[in-house]
Amino acid sequence: MRTINVIMNGVTGRMGYRQHLVRSVLAIREQGGVLLADGSRVMLDPILVGRSEARLKEIADRHGLRRYTTDLESALADGTGIYFDAQITQTREKAILAAIAAGWDVYTEKPTAESVEGALKLARAAADAGVRNGVVHDKLYLPGLVKLKRLLDSGFFGRVLSVRGEFGYWVFEGDWQKAQRPSWNYRKEDGGGITVDMFCHWNYVLENLFGDVQAVTAKVATHIPTRFDERGESYEATADDAAYGIFELDGGIIAQLNSSWAVRVYRDELVEFQVDGTEGSAVAGLRDCRVQHRVNTPMPVWNPDLPVTEPFRDQWLEVPDNADLDNGFKAQWEQFVRHVAEGAPHPYDFLSGVRGIQLAELGLRSSAEGRRVEIPAVEL
Ligand SMILES: NC(=O)c1ccc[n+]([C@@H]2O[C@H](COP(=O)([O-])OP(=O)(O)OC[C@H]3O[C@@H](n4cnc5c(N)ncnc54)[C@H](O)[C@@H]3O)[C@@H](O)[C@H]2O)c1
Repeated sequence: MRTINVIMNGVTGRMGYRQHLVRSVLAIREQGGVLLADGSRVMLDPILVGRSEARLKEIADRHGLRRYTTDLESALADGTGIYFDAQITQTREKAILAAIAAGWDVYTEKPTAESVEGALKLARAAADAGVRNGVVHDKLYLPGLVKLKRLLDSGFFGRVLSVRGEFGYWVFEGDWQKAQRPSWNYRKEDGGGITVDMFCHWNYVLENLFGDVQAVTAKVATHIPTRFDERGESYEATADDAAYGIFELDGGIIAQLNSSWAVRVYRDELVEFQVDGTEGSAVAGLRDCRVQHRVNTPMPVWNPDLPVTEPFRDQWLEVPDNADLDNGFKAQWEQFVRHVAEGAPHPYDFLSGVRGIQLAELGLRSSAEGRRVEIPAVEL
């Protein structure tokens, strides 16, 4: 069995620890590695990298791992393999450039950089160095979206007309109840903001399921101006905590996606997309997906004087799993490892990362200037 070194930078963070170390890399180790097309297996050997030796040691001890360091440079100099980055967004670009220069293949959390310019620099550096590169596209691997893709591939919808998405939940301010997200998320100067965070996701969801985004019209807001940080101290929320966007896609499809950390959930899941097509509609969440075909579509009559006569929610049918739908982060890790080990396809590369950041930048511009902004094609 081959072993690939995996530097995991930012492993003490929320995403780095839970989704990438525990639920992906350690889960892959426990299952005996990643199976390749020729029947052989690749094992991953993590090297934990971060700023605090004590915290790294604690994680390493907890999981029986040997290798950890606060010195990224020496870790990069000591061999090759996959460099993975789940640090805060601000510190990512520099670390990834160092990894590329040292000849490591790179897999990273999104956004790949803080600006389109920075993200393009990474994409070009990776292409020039010939290193494999990939960006987390976790939402595509969600069971709900896998089922949605299956419906699209089957032609269920006929012509897709529109997509409406709701993402969000209430993130506590941090005073009388603990905030569920790190405080940097709410400071623009630290790389925060829900537009930067979520439009990267929406770009790859839209382009991989429905069509490329041609134009964006967005309004962003900072609904909660003051929050309390990890030490309980108040700070000014300088970044947006809600983004209301309209996205025009290839083929005339209109997508409207609301993203908010200042909304209370009256939905079945924290993210939900409704897709309406000429032949049928679907509502997909993280896990579930329900459909209504045209032949099952009721004929409601608008009469506000009468109580609702139809049990609308009951009229939809559940789409079955019909497959073992594993944790999405782990599924993508396996795909990226196959890409590195045997050249298997992994289309979610740094250029896709650039498109995601571009959509966020242009969404913010649309909001600031109060106008619709067209999305140019991105090239290396
Ligand atoms: N794919 C997703 O759904 C998803 C969800 C949330 C966050 N993310 C991305 O993952 C990355 C990490 O987010 P998170 O929520 O895990 O953040 P976090 O604050 O929990 O973790 C950040 C990590 O970066 C490290 N770090 C390095 N330099 C730092 C510095 N100067 N200041 C503070 N921390 C520093 C921290 O020690 C920690 O390990 C971000 O880029 C974010 O955009 C992705």
